[in-house]
Amino acid sequence: MYDFGLVGLGVMGHNFILNVADHGFTVYGLDLDDEKVDTLIKSGNDPGKVNGTTGVKTFVSALATPRKVMLLVPAGDLVDKAIESLLPHLEPGDIIIDGGNSFFTDTDRREAYLKEKGINFFGAGVSGGAEGARRGPSIMPGGNKEAYEHIRPIFEAAAAKFKGEPCVTYLGPKSAGNYVKMVHNGIEYGLMQLISEIYDLLKRLGGLDNDELSKTFKHWNERRLQSFLVEITAEIFKQEDSDGDGRLVDKILDKAKQKGTGKWTSQNAMDLGVPIPSIDIAVSMREISALKDLRVKAGGLYERPRFAITDKPGLLKKAEEALYFSFIVTYAQGLHQLAEASESYGYALNLSKVAKTWRAGCIIRAALLDDIARSYEEVAGLQNILMAPSFMSRIKETVASTREIIVMGINSGIPLPGLTNSLTYFDALTTGRLPLNLIQAQRDHFGSHTYERVDREGIFHTEWGGD
Ligand code: 6PG
Repeated sequence: MYDFGLVGLGVMGHNFILNVADHGFTVYGLDLDDEKVDTLIKSGNDPGKVNGTTGVKTFVSALATPRKVMLLVPAGDLVDKAIESLLPHLEPGDIIIDGGNSFFTDTDRREAYLKEKGINFFGAGVSGGAEGARRGPSIMPGGNKEAYEHIRPIFEAAAAKFKGEPCVTYLGPKSAGNYVKMVHNGIEYGLMQLISEIYDLLKRLGGLDNDELSKTFKHWNERRLQSFLVEITAEIFKQEDSDGDGRLVDKILDKAKQKGTGKWTSQNAMDLGVPIPSIDIAVSMREISALKDLRVKAGGLYERPRFAITDKPGLLKKAEEALYFSFIVTYAQGLHQLAEASESYGYALNLSKVAKTWRAGCIIRAALLDDIARSYEEVAGLQNILMAPSFMSRIKETVASTREIIVMGINSGIPLPGLTNSLTYFDALTTGRLPLNLIQAQRDHFGSHTYERVDREGIFHTEWGGD
């Protein structure tokens, strides 16, 4: 009998099942495509340890009970179809794990549906791409706590390790795991947008060529900005175009695609009433990027201001600080959203554990996350990491450069909306009295929407404009 079953032997599934097998578990794969099944069996070398089939019944009956079946199929209908095909063969107590980027309410629906049949359902986001799946991803599981014990040894073995600690932990009930993965992706969108803005500024204003850009990001990656995304950015600038002269990055069309997880993060933050403007703008910028034809036409209609910069080392220092500031603010927003979601959806998330899960294996892994995890342990009831002493000092140290970098962008007409939104979020969040008293007055003026007062309790309405 095999320890672990996996449905969907695409790149992620193929890599993840082999990763599990590397750790001494016997594994069985299922895919409708017999070529994929053959490839898996050949990669395993020993069918007693790594095997596969195209038949659901054969697959399910090959697994030890309680059966642990992970789905790595595209989010949406295919998840439901895979569940329906497995169901007639499963027994109460068996476990299905959805490892894809499913929308969290779909996970809640599936969890409730399967619970009635005695099947434990987990939504477990897996981050780290194909390489991560093979060598050790970050895994974000949510579902039934007792049933998690059956999958814990497998996940802990397969997950990435940060100083020996596995980057996986039980996060909470129902869709907690999928929700955390969704916000991970929202943060991913935010960080990628910020890096692209700094690239634009250094290239267009600082005049850095690809070698200098690569050197700069490589250097930053050896310091406090150390992170997977900064690391791969340094690598990207060096990649030659195999189809011709020059670097590949310069030949890539500037239209960014998206599969929706960043948009879901923003949409749900709006539903919860949590501000995450650094992530929102990252989604909007992908949308603006898609309007290529319009941008090219409109670009011909308007002049761009001329602004020169002479102090290149100064620019690099400030850019590094601005990126660091904005990285912190973006993590702060995503984690704040998780805190609110935890309350609203009953996830009881431990944000220190969430940050620990992200320290290795995933796309947003960064040196910062270990400090973030520690802050949640040190400061009880921490609402936002901007209130944590260790982050306050970093913010104070980098905010002035952030302002200067944004001014450079404004003066030269280079859009830096991620950096700007990060700074604006910080400025607004640290302003005790915002001008929204006026908005309340306007609402009451035109719609009798009432207002509260600073000097006494109660709900008030005024007949504005009267004597
Ligand atoms: C990960 C990634 C992954 C996601 C890609 C693409 O954690 O490994 O988040 O789950 O699919 O980042 O996302 P977009 O196509 O929306 O950019």
